[in-house]
Amino acid sequence: MPPMELEGRHVIVTGGAGGIGSALARRFHAAGARVVVADLDGAGAARVATELEAVRGDSAVGVGADVGTADGNAELIDAARRAFGEIDLFFANAGVGVGGELDTNDDDWQLAFHVNIEAHVFAARLLVPGWIERGDGYFCSTASAAGLLTQIGSAPYSVTKHAAVAFAEWLSITYGDRGLKVSCLCPMGVNTNMLNAGDALGAGGASSVVRAAGEVLEPDAVADVVFQAIGDERFLILPHPEVLTFFQRKASDYDRWLAGMRRLRARAGG
Ligand SMILES: NC(=O)c1ccc[n+]([C@@H]2O[C@H](COP(=O)([O-])OP(=O)(O)OC[C@H]3O[C@@H](n4cnc5c(N)ncnc54)[C@H](O)[C@@H]3O)[C@@H](O)[C@H]2O)c1
Repeated sequence: MPPMELEGRHVIVTGGAGGIGSALARRFHAAGARVVVADLDGAGAARVATELEAVRGDSAVGVGADVGTADGNAELIDAARRAFGEIDLFFANAGVGVGGELDTNDDDWQLAFHVNIEAHVFAARLLVPGWIERGDGYFCSTASAAGLLTQIGSAPYSVTKHAAVAFAEWLSITYGDRGLKVSCLCPMGVNTNMLNAGDALGAGGASSVVRAAGEVLEPDAVADVVFQAIGDERFLILPHPEVLTFFQRKASDYDRWLAGMRRLRARAGG
C-alpha cells in the first residue's frame, strides 16, 4: 500500500524536541503534514518547529507540555486544535528511561508510569471519541523492544513499556473496526539522548546491554521505517527486524528465553 496521504494532515509528536520525536516531526512534515511539536522542553520543541516553519510557512508549532499529566495533555490538544484544527495522527512518543532494579525509588517509578504509559491513556481519552465519531484517526505509540521482551537493568522501563504495548493492542482491538488505526513502535537501540545520557538506560547503565543486543540505529532511519509502516497501517513497527525473532522465541519457550536473558544479564555484569 502506498504511504498514507499526508498533505495538510495534522500531526502531533510528543517528545518532539529531539531524538526519535524530532525525526518523526521532520519526516512527516517533509511529506506535507502540519506538525505540532510538543515536549517538556518547550524551547527545544520551539526550535524544531522554527526549523520546520523555515521550510514551509504555517506548517509547524512548538508547544511546551508535560504529557505525564491529564492537564498537560488537555492543554496540548487544545493548543494543537487552535493552531491547525482537528488532529489526524498522534505520536505518543515522549518517554523516560528512569529507574533501575529493586532499589528504584518511588518517584522514578511514578515518573515512568506517568510518562511512559499514563500519557498514552490521557491522550487517547481526549482524541479517540472524536476519531470514532468521524471514522478516522491514527494513534501511534512509541513503546520499545523492552515492551515485548524486557529491559535488563530497569524494572520501571520494562513494566511501563509492556503496559504501552498492551494499551496500544487494547485500543486497536476495541476501536480498530470503528475507524481508529493504531501502531506501536518497538525499537532496540537508537542513537538519542536517552541512550547516550546518564540515566538508567544511559551511559554505563542498561545502555551497554542495548548496545550489545543489536545495531544502534539513527533516529532518521527509525522515522523512515515508521513512515512506511503507517502508510501500510501496520500495528507492530520493528526497525530492528530481529526483535520479531526474539519475541517468537519468548512465546515459543518462555523458560528457555528467561534462562537466556539471565545469561545475558550475567554477561553484562549484572
Ligand atoms: N533511544 C532508544 O534506544 C530507544 C529505544 C526504544 C524506545 N525508545 C523510546 O523512544 C521514545 C523517544 O525517546 P528518544 O530515544 O528519542 O530519547 P530522547 O530523550 O531524545 O527523547 C525523549 C523526549 O521526551 C521528552 N519528555 C520526557 N518527559 C516528558 C514529559 N513529561 N512531557 C513531554 N515530553 C517529555 C524529553 O524532553 C525528550 O525530548 C521514548 O518513549 C523512548 O522510551 C528509545
